[in-house]
Amino acid sequence: MDIRTACVVLVCAVALTCAEPVKYVDCGSAVGKVSMVDINPCPRQPCQLRKGQSYSVNVTFSSAVESQTSKAIVHGVIAGVPIPFAIPVQDGCKSGIACPIEKESNYHYVNELPVKEIYPSIKLVVEWELRDDDGKDLFCIEFPVQIVS
Ligand SMILES: *[C@@H]1O[C@H](CO)[C@@H](O)[C@H](O)[C@H]1NC(C)=O
Repeated sequence: MDIRTACVVLVCAVALTCAEPVKYVDCGSAVGKVSMVDINPCPRQPCQLRKGQSYSVNVTFSSAVESQTSKAIVHGVIAGVPIPFAIPVQDGCKSGIACPIEKESNYHYVNELPVKEIYPSIKLVVEWELRDDDGKDLFCIEFPVQIVS
Protein backbone atom coordinates (compact mmCIF):
# COMPACT_ATOMS: atom_id res chain seq x y z
CA MET A 1 0.00 0.00 0.00
CA ASP A 2 1.51 3.37 -0.94
CA ILE A 3 1.46 6.34 1.38
CA ARG A 4 -1.52 8.03 -0.33
CA THR A 5 -3.72 4.95 -0.09
CA ALA A 6 -2.71 4.57 3.53
CA CYS A 7 -3.78 8.16 4.24
CA VAL A 8 -7.19 7.69 2.60
CA VAL A 9 -7.82 4.48 4.54
CA LEU A 10 -6.81 6.16 7.78
CA VAL A 11 -9.01 9.23 7.23
CA CYS A 12 -12.02 7.05 6.41
CA ALA A 13 -11.53 4.88 9.49
CA VAL A 14 -11.39 7.99 11.67
CA ALA A 15 -14.47 9.50 10.02
CA LEU A 16 -16.49 6.36 10.73
CA THR A 17 -15.64 6.14 14.38
CA CYS A 18 -15.62 9.85 15.21
CA ALA A 19 -19.34 10.55 15.12
CA GLU A 20 -19.98 14.28 15.10
CA PRO A 21 -22.30 15.86 17.66
CA VAL A 22 -25.93 15.56 16.72
CA LYS A 23 -27.61 18.63 15.25
CA TYR A 24 -30.51 19.50 17.52
CA VAL A 25 -33.01 22.26 18.08
CA ASP A 26 -33.58 23.65 21.55
CA CYS A 27 -37.32 23.46 22.20
CA GLY A 28 -37.33 25.52 25.39
CA SER A 29 -34.69 24.70 27.99
CA ALA A 30 -36.22 27.08 30.53
CA VAL A 31 -33.93 26.38 33.50
CA GLY A 32 -30.86 24.92 31.82
CA LYS A 33 -28.54 25.19 28.85
CA VAL A 34 -27.57 22.38 26.47
CA SER A 35 -24.04 22.33 25.10
CA MET A 36 -23.91 18.99 23.30
CA VAL A 37 -26.03 16.06 22.19
CA ASP A 38 -24.41 12.74 21.32
CA ILE A 39 -26.15 9.65 19.97
CA ASN A 40 -24.33 6.38 19.64
CA PRO A 41 -24.08 4.79 17.14
CA CYS A 42 -24.97 7.48 14.62
CA PRO A 43 -22.32 7.62 11.89
CA ARG A 44 -24.32 10.05 9.74
CA GLN A 45 -27.27 12.34 10.23
CA PRO A 46 -30.17 12.19 10.53
CA CYS A 47 -29.48 9.22 12.83
CA GLN A 48 -30.78 5.93 11.49
CA LEU A 49 -32.41 3.91 14.24
CA ARG A 50 -32.59 0.21 13.43
CA LYS A 51 -35.54 -1.74 14.84
CA GLY A 52 -34.57 -4.08 17.65
CA GLN A 53 -31.52 -2.03 18.56
CA SER A 54 -30.84 0.38 21.36
CA TYR A 55 -29.07 3.71 21.12
CA SER A 56 -27.37 5.74 23.77
CA VAL A 57 -28.25 9.39 24.11
CA ASN A 58 -25.82 11.67 25.92
CA VAL A 59 -26.93 15.25 26.61
CA THR A 60 -24.41 17.63 28.13
CA PHE A 61 -26.14 20.52 29.89
CA SER A 62 -25.83 22.93 32.76
CA SER A 63 -28.57 23.73 35.22
CA ALA A 64 -29.60 27.23 36.27
CA VAL A 65 -31.54 25.90 39.28
CA GLU A 66 -31.30 23.44 42.13
CA SER A 67 -33.49 20.37 41.87
CA GLN A 68 -33.89 17.24 43.98
CA THR A 69 -35.39 15.26 41.14
CA SER A 70 -35.34 15.07 37.37
CA LYS A 71 -37.75 13.30 35.10
CA ALA A 72 -37.36 12.54 31.42
CA ILE A 73 -40.28 12.84 29.02
CA VAL A 74 -39.83 11.65 25.45
CA HIS A 75 -42.12 12.18 22.49
CA GLY A 76 -41.93 11.14 18.88
CA VAL A 77 -43.26 13.99 16.78
CA ILE A 78 -44.94 12.62 13.67
CA ALA A 79 -46.35 15.16 11.23
CA GLY A 80 -46.36 17.77 14.00
CA VAL A 81 -48.20 15.54 16.49
CA PRO A 82 -46.27 14.55 19.64
CA ILE A 83 -46.76 10.89 20.59
CA PRO A 84 -45.46 9.62 23.97
CA PHE A 85 -42.40 7.41 23.59
CA ALA A 86 -41.64 4.92 26.37
CA ILE A 87 -38.13 4.85 27.74
CA PRO A 88 -37.10 2.21 30.32
CA VAL A 89 -35.65 4.68 32.84
CA GLN A 90 -37.55 7.94 33.33
CA ASP A 91 -35.60 9.02 36.38
CA GLY A 92 -32.84 11.40 35.32
CA CYS A 93 -31.14 10.85 38.69
CA LYS A 94 -30.59 7.23 37.57
CA SER A 95 -29.35 8.32 34.13
CA GLY A 96 -25.86 9.59 34.81
CA ILE A 97 -26.92 12.61 36.91
CA ALA A 98 -25.86 12.82 40.54
CA CYS A 99 -28.83 14.35 42.39
CA PRO A 100 -29.60 16.76 43.90
CA ILE A 101 -28.87 18.87 40.85
CA GLU A 102 -26.88 21.96 41.71
CA LYS A 103 -27.03 25.43 40.26
CA GLU A 104 -24.46 26.34 37.58
CA SER A 105 -23.14 22.77 37.38
CA ASN A 106 -22.52 20.68 34.30
CA TYR A 107 -24.16 17.33 33.82
CA HIS A 108 -24.13 14.47 31.35
CA TYR A 109 -27.53 12.89 31.03
CA VAL A 110 -27.03 9.41 29.55
CA ASN A 111 -29.89 7.10 28.64
CA GLU A 112 -30.94 4.37 26.25
CA LEU A 113 -33.37 4.77 23.38
CA PRO A 114 -34.75 1.32 22.54
CA VAL A 115 -36.25 0.97 19.08
CA LYS A 116 -39.03 -1.61 19.08
CA GLU A 117 -39.73 -3.95 16.17
CA ILE A 118 -43.33 -2.71 16.00
CA TYR A 119 -42.34 0.87 15.20
CA PRO A 120 -43.13 1.99 11.66
CA SER A 121 -40.28 2.73 9.24
CA ILE A 122 -40.65 6.49 9.11
CA LYS A 123 -38.79 9.70 9.63
CA LEU A 124 -39.74 11.58 12.75
CA VAL A 125 -38.49 14.10 15.26
CA VAL A 126 -37.55 12.95 18.76
CA GLU A 127 -38.36 15.47 21.47
CA TRP A 128 -36.52 14.80 24.72
CA GLU A 129 -37.23 16.80 27.87
CA LEU A 130 -35.76 16.60 31.34
CA ARG A 131 -37.95 18.29 33.94
CA ASP A 132 -36.97 19.62 37.36
CA ASP A 133 -38.93 19.58 40.67
CA ASP A 134 -41.30 22.26 39.36
CA GLY A 135 -41.89 20.55 36.02
CA LYS A 136 -39.73 23.09 34.21
CA ASP A 137 -37.39 21.95 31.47
CA LEU A 138 -33.74 21.55 32.45
CA PHE A 139 -33.43 20.78 28.79
CA CYS A 140 -35.71 20.27 25.83
CA ILE A 141 -34.12 19.10 22.62
CA GLU A 142 -35.44 17.96 19.28
CA PHE A 143 -33.52 15.96 16.71
CA PRO A 144 -34.62 14.19 13.53
CA VAL A 145 -34.26 10.42 13.18
CA GLN A 146 -35.16 7.77 10.65
CA ILE A 147 -36.43 4.38 11.79
CA VAL A 148 -35.22 1.58 9.52
CA SER A 149 -35.70 -2.20 9.45
C1 LIG B 1 -21.09 11.98 27.46
O1 LIG B 1 -20.50 13.03 26.72
C2 LIG B 1 -19.46 13.71 27.41
C3 LIG B 1 -19.01 14.86 26.53
O2 LIG B 1 -18.54 14.41 25.32
C4 LIG B 1 -18.34 12.73 27.75
O3 LIG B 1 -17.34 13.39 28.47
C5 LIG B 1 -18.91 11.57 28.56
O4 LIG B 1 -17.89 10.61 28.79
C6 LIG B 1 -20.06 10.93 27.83
N1 LIG B 1 -20.63 9.90 28.68
C7 LIG B 1 -20.91 8.66 28.26
C8 LIG B 1 -21.41 7.70 29.27
O5 LIG B 1 -20.76 8.32 27.09
